[in-house]
Amino acid sequence: MKVLVVGGAGYIGSHVVHAFLSAGHDVTVFDNLSSGQLINLVPGTGFIAGDIRHPDDLDAAFSRGFDAFVHLAAFKAVGESMSEPEKYSVNNLSGTINILNAACAHGCKRMVFSSSAAIFGSPQYLPIDEAHPANPESYYGFTKLEIERILAWYDRIRGLRFAALRYFNAAGYDPDGTVLGLESNPQNLLPIIMEVAMGWRKELQIFGNDYDTRDGTCVRDYVHVSDLARAHVLALETIDREDESLTVNLGSETGITVTEMLETAREVTGVEIPARYVDRRPGDPSELYATSAHAKKRIGWEAELSDCKTLISSTWDVYRKHQTAEK
Ligand code: UD1
Repeated sequence: MKVLVVGGAGYIGSHVVHAFLSAGHDVTVFDNLSSGQLINLVPGTGFIAGDIRHPDDLDAAFSRGFDAFVHLAAFKAVGESMSEPEKYSVNNLSGTINILNAACAHGCKRMVFSSSAAIFGSPQYLPIDEAHPANPESYYGFTKLEIERILAWYDRIRGLRFAALRYFNAAGYDPDGTVLGLESNPQNLLPIIMEVAMGWRKELQIFGNDYDTRDGTCVRDYVHVSDLARAHVLALETIDREDESLTVNLGSETGITVTEMLETAREVTGVEIPARYVDRRPGDPSELYATSAHAKKRIGWEAELSDCKTLISSTWDVYRKHQTAEK
């Protein structure tokens, strides 16, 4: 298929591009490079510089004729979404509506959407399945949930068939070394640990050690980005074949604590990685992990690379390449 990947120069997007190319699809990236990077553009990919806030950019892109698109262009910092919701309204909500309108106007009615576990809020039960009530606790999560609802209406009225993929905590790098871009000013646990290991940050601050978990630190479901990327291909092929939309949770089904991630990182890197306990971060649920039984049944997907060591070693390999490049 001829696929437009909106946000394809970002961390997850570039892995998605790699997965589509490997599966034999024809891929073009649309990105404004606000957080995406040219270094992430996989050779063999077309590139359109454009902004989802500008309907004309999208109209020009979709006029080239695509069979399907993947939408990953969004701001994703949970904390920032609570202090600057306007940014999230304009980019995540209006930007998505602009994409949908341009795609439908040009007859492109197959789509994969990056949704998030953030739509669920604090879990009422574990593991989280697709039927778990959605009650986002951040504006970021709210934007993802609203978009899922809009997609259901575009399905009904315009015949848009979508796959909404609710990622749990994306981590890791392509083990083949095709993606090399590092996120600038990362907000997530593993890249922060890597920056401490590299000596770019003084220490890791562990947000709370008094949770009711096996070691007192928060449990999350980290899923390898290459596993996530593969799910996009399977999901698109499924909705195309079945002409029916779907929504699935994508997690590894394994909970890892902050301390376990840190200890494994020390082991893999051989670096001490200074760390200090600080207060809990507001809004952090103690424990979150998914069941991916529905993803397995619906799109034939399960995580393969999402164990703690592979997550860390694949990430550390990329950070070390940057260290070598800087010398
Ligand atoms: C959140 C979202 C998730 C989203 C992700 C994207 C929720 C419930 N989850 O994940 O859907 O995809 O952001 O950014 O909103 N931690 C530390 N020290 C640090 C950084 C993190 O201890 O310096 C801890 C956090 O308290 C948390 C874990 O590490 O327990 C993971 O944090 P993070 O990587 O920020 O992701 P989430 O907040 O779980």
